[in-house]
Amino acid sequence: MKKKTLVLLLALTMVFAFALSACGGSSESGGEEEDATLRVVTEATFAPFEFTEDGDDEIKGFDVDMMNAIAEDQGLKIEFINMEFDSLIPALESDQGDIIAAGMNKLAGDRAEKADFGDTYFESDLMLLVKSDSTLTSIDDVTPEMKLASQIGTTGGDYVQALESDGKIAQGVVLNQWTDSYMQLQNGDVQGVVVDKPVGEAYLNAHSDIAKFVGEPFGDHEEFAYAVQKGNTELLDKLNAGLANMKENGTYDELVDKWFS
Ligand code: ARG
Repeated sequence: MKKKTLVLLLALTMVFAFALSACGGSSESGGEEEDATLRVVTEATFAPFEFTEDGDDEIKGFDVDMMNAIAEDQGLKIEFINMEFDSLIPALESDQGDIIAAGMNKLAGDRAEKADFGDTYFESDLMLLVKSDSTLTSIDDVTPEMKLASQIGTTGGDYVQALESDGKIAQGVVLNQWTDSYMQLQNGDVQGVVVDKPVGEAYLNAHSDIAKFVGEPFGDHEEFAYAVQKGNTELLDKLNAGLANMKENGTYDELVDKWFS
C-alpha cells in the first residue's frame, strides 16, 4: 500500500510542477518585461534631425526630441544607438534595434516590406547643393563628366546612382556620412551633393558663403516616419498615439520652431 501512495504522491508532484511552469511561474516564460529600454537606431550626420557635435557622442536633433517626447507621453524608456544608415532596417530585422528614427522616407523602395512605419511626422524633397561659384542651375544641368555625392542607402544615394547608370554623370559617389559628402563638395572631388531639402538648408545656414542650392526640389516627395520591427503593432500604436498627442498639445510645433526656424 505504502509504495502505491509514494508513487501517486510523486506523480501528483510532477503534474503540479509542470502546471506551474506552463502558467508562467518563472521568468523564463518569456513574459515581456514592462520596463524594457527600447533601442532607437539612427544615423547621426543628418542635422537637424539627428547629429552629433565636435566629437561628442550625444545625439541631438528634431528626431531625438520627438522620440523623447513620444516616450514620455507613452511611458516608454528609450535609448539611441548610432549606426550607418543602410544598417538601420537590418538592425530591426535582426532584433538589434526596436525603433528607427532617422528622417527615413516610409514610401521609398521596399522599406515598408521589411519594417512597419508609423504616421508621417515630416515631409521633404531632394535638392542639389553646389559650391557657391558653381555654374550649375539645376539637377538637369549635370553633365557626363561630373560626380555627385549623397549618402549610401538613402533616396539621394539611389538618385545619384541612377544618374550614373543612365550615363548622365560619371559617378554617383555614395558615402556613409553626410559630412563626408559636404567635404568632397568643398574639396572639389564632386560637383554637387543630392540632399534632403531641410538638411541642405541646415548646412547652408552655417555655410552660405561656400555653398548654395540650385534649381527646384526633385525626386519623389518624401514622408518621414519612425519604424518598428515588422508586426510590432502594439509599439507602433503607442508611437502614433504619442505623435498625435504631441501635435495636439503643441509640443510638435515647438520642436519645429526649435529646429527649423
Ligand atoms: N530621407 C532620406 C531617405 O529616407 C535620407 C535619410 C537619411 N537619414 C539619416 N539619418 N542619415 O533615404
